[in-house]
Amino acid sequence: MYICPVCKMKLRLDKKVWRCQKGHSFDVHRKGYVNLLTTRKHNPKKSGDNGDMVRARTEFLNFGHYEPLVKKTVSVMKALLEGVEDPVIIDSGCGEGYYTVNYAKQMPDASFFGIDISKGACSHAMSRVNEQGLENVDIAVASAFELPFEDMSADLVVCTFAPVSDREYARVLKSGGKLVVISPSAEHLFELKELIYENPYRNKPNEYGLEHFDEGEEEIFEYKASLASREEILSLYKMTPYYYKTAAPDAAKLIETESLELTCGFSIRTFSKKERAL
Ligand SMILES: C[S@@+](CC[C@H](N)C(=O)[O-])C[C@H]1O[C@@H](n2cnc3c(N)ncnc32)[C@H](O)[C@@H]1O
Ligand SMILES: [Zn+2]
Repeated sequence: MYICPVCKMKLRLDKKVWRCQKGHSFDVHRKGYVNLLTTRKHNPKKSGDNGDMVRARTEFLNFGHYEPLVKKTVSVMKALLEGVEDPVIIDSGCGEGYYTVNYAKQMPDASFFGIDISKGACSHAMSRVNEQGLENVDIAVASAFELPFEDMSADLVVCTFAPVSDREYARVLKSGGKLVVISPSAEHLFELKELIYENPYRNKPNEYGLEHFDEGEEEIFEYKASLASREEILSLYKMTPYYYKTAAPDAAKLIETESLELTCGFSIRTFSKKERAL
């Protein structure tokens, strides 16, 4: 499944080292993930989410408010993969692994490959995999724009709140392969924005310009979550981009809030690889 990020030849695992025929080698980290990001092109220290962002995301996700989204996405993936035996699924931009691990628990016959450009996020994702004792998840540090997978090796790519790569997804998907892209709906977290901004705006839809895919139906999946403590509200705030953009006086209003009825809203878009793609 993995290919060498330097020469693109197949990688084979040899006593905890992934090697290609040309002699490039990549050690499996003691936790179990592998770093397949070429430092020539990317600076892993500057790439993707930093430690604080990963911690905030973990703290919030562990409260379980996004559990309905996991369930929903699993049902969408299962429907798309009907008739496919032992599917291979890539979670692109898997972050700290909350979704990957929960998908893998609910789809034990599927093999999951999580990739993220942030080493800290991958390390955390691997800890989640190990905690759950899951055998069907592999994690690699890599970019969505240079995936470390063989051509036509996956049945489905899922991408949640992370960068989308038209060309690479089309390359690694088998013929007829599926893509699921999840992004915030217009109403997502609106009540949080009302707390911090005078004129909160609704999210605009994302345009991905996917040339290699046919689009299926978009589903807007929305529900209310009850955040019952300051801790929950603050961890949510710290995981959003608003935390990095909001002036201190605006943020102060949020610190005084003890409970919040919150809209969690997601746009779930599904795509099929075009027959003549790549
Ligand atoms: C908003 S987070 C979402 C993480 C996870 N999917 C979730 O929903 O919890 C976006 C993730 O994309 C990762 N990312 C950013 N650029 C990337 C790239 N070029 N390739 C792979 N991952 C990338 C970040 O490191 C971060 O973990
Ligand atoms: Zn190589």
